[in-house]
Amino acid sequence: MQAWSNACRAKGESLSFVPTMGNLHEGHLALVEAAKKMADKVVVSIYVNPMQFGENEDFDKYPRTEQQDLEQLQQKQVDVVFMPDSAEMYPPDQTIDYIAVPDFATELEGQTRPDHFRGVATIVKKLFDAVQPDHAIFGEKDFQQCMVVKNMVAEHGLNIEIHAAPIVRDEDGLAKSSRNQYLTPEQRKQAPVLYQSLLAARQKVLAETLNYSEIESQSIDFIAKNSFEVDYFVIRDATTLGAPREQNRVILVAAKLGIPRLLDNLRVD
Ligand code: PAF
Repeated sequence: MQAWSNACRAKGESLSFVPTMGNLHEGHLALVEAAKKMADKVVVSIYVNPMQFGENEDFDKYPRTEQQDLEQLQQKQVDVVFMPDSAEMYPPDQTIDYIAVPDFATELEGQTRPDHFRGVATIVKKLFDAVQPDHAIFGEKDFQQCMVVKNMVAEHGLNIEIHAAPIVRDEDGLAKSSRNQYLTPEQRKQAPVLYQSLLAARQKVLAETLNYSEIESQSIDFIAKNSFEVDYFVIRDATTLGAPREQNRVILVAAKLGIPRLLDNLRVD
């Protein structure tokens, strides 16, 4: 991978990179489209990273659809699909150089999934070392992940521009996710409630008649009434994830519906 990347650079070609765990859907393909516009060459990686899954999470069951993924990427004419295996990414005789994550990574997703972001930051750093891209594109559905990656890049002084691409939704508003396929048909019908709750909360924030915690608790009630187990529903500052200010606010939600835990978010301003 590095040799190919170096050869591109020697020819003066720029590289954009889309890291994935495979099981590609339209959300990923939108990232690939964005990547194609940014640079001369596009690399996509497929690697289901064990380090970012908790003990009781779905690592073993995570959908692996290699053939289908490769066909889609071929259609998109990406230049390289990088598919390392675990022996390459985490050589068994080598100590793992874990990447430390900032404080904001311990809340929200980090609260429910304690080592998740350390696993993400560690693998993304390894993938960046292999691919050596100029640009890397991540989906904004994983809002906090985008922040963790940006933080890692700044902290390590990497010369890589990180882009967060807008969420791609089904027609009824449900954000695309590989985990949506765990929903039963009945749950799939209920799932757009999550996006509806975000739209309603945004309207309430902009109307300025209720305070943030009132809006958050009304939203949690609304989602919970629709069979979800709500993990968090918060209005935050979109740059720091701290308390919201007058501008630059984001609403973030995570809730379980049956088996999958679904994430979504919406900018207010
Ligand atoms: O968002 C994902 O699919 C993963 O977290 C990533 C960025 C590919 C790292 O394994």
